[in-house]
Amino acid sequence: MDVPGFAVITGAASGIGRACSKAFARDGSAGIALLDLSYESLLAVKAEIEEEQKKQGGKCQIEVSMLDVTDEAQVDRIINQIAQKFGRIDYVVNAAGIAFKHQGGAAYAETKDWQRVLNVNLNGTFYILRAAAKIMLKQERILSSIDGRPLQRGSIVNLASILGTVAVPTSTAYTASKHGVIGLTRTASEDYAKDGLRINAVCPGYIGTPMTLNNPSVSQTLEERVQTFCPMKRLGEPQEIADGVVYLSGGRSSFVTGTALVIDGGYTQR
Ligand SMILES: NC(=O)c1ccc[n+]([C@@H]2O[C@H](COP(=O)([O-])OP(=O)(O)OC[C@H]3O[C@@H](n4cnc5c(N)ncnc54)[C@H](O)[C@@H]3O)[C@@H](O)[C@H]2O)c1
Repeated sequence: MDVPGFAVITGAASGIGRACSKAFARDGSAGIALLDLSYESLLAVKAEIEEEQKKQGGKCQIEVSMLDVTDEAQVDRIINQIAQKFGRIDYVVNAAGIAFKHQGGAAYAETKDWQRVLNVNLNGTFYILRAAAKIMLKQERILSSIDGRPLQRGSIVNLASILGTVAVPTSTAYTASKHGVIGLTRTASEDYAKDGLRINAVCPGYIGTPMTLNNPSVSQTLEERVQTFCPMKRLGEPQEIADGVVYLSGGRSSFVTGTALVIDGGYTQR
């Protein structure tokens, strides 16, 4: 893949964010900044990548920082610190997120649950996008590591979901948040397309990560849901989402902006 330069990844301690972190390091990024709530979990991912780099001979600089994406001031501070450390930010992957099912659906959804999901999934994505875009708009375009052509000033990929385009019962706040992420992606992409910023979303179907496998309200019906609704009859792997993220981030997608790439084993074609 074609991802020279420096990447910032939220939700990097687990699941899709972790797979993206490994993919950027493997595919030739000069540096990655891994952000999440737990410092220990981030250190574990860093150690895994360093181990892989030892075997494969990579030399990606890895920074880790504890960050709550719902804390606007903290987001601004940490994104600016990373930009100073790396000299620039070429890619952002907004993978921090939480899932929640409201017993009884919208009529019984509690405000605190609604706000928590919206805060992490939509507000957090917005805070990170805003902080990074300000930096990206002021930097020179990066050159492709494959053919030297000038690429974007910056590329942002937001993790939406198939629930950004369709819905399932009782996922009130989650579905609203992911529809919002696609809306944010589309409008921001148009704001900066002419300035060399590309902003896209990825819509995963059901993927085998702690979000699905360790969450009883999701995992109880997961196998049945996959067998009934997913034409491929299996969960996706985090790496299969990371491949889409790296494609949308780097030089091979130089004419792609404002899109929402569905990676779902055929779930939403029905
Ligand atoms: N797993 C799936 O089936 C699936 C499907 C569609 C979309 N997604 C989306 O992909 C993204 C990654 O999901 P995943 O499956 O890897 O989940 P995950 O639970 O494995 O990882 C999510 C990470 O986000 C972090 N996080 C949560 N709140 C945070 C906060 N306030 N600040 C910083 N970090 C925070 C968590 O600590 C965790 O490490 C999410 O946005 C999710 O909604 C996942």
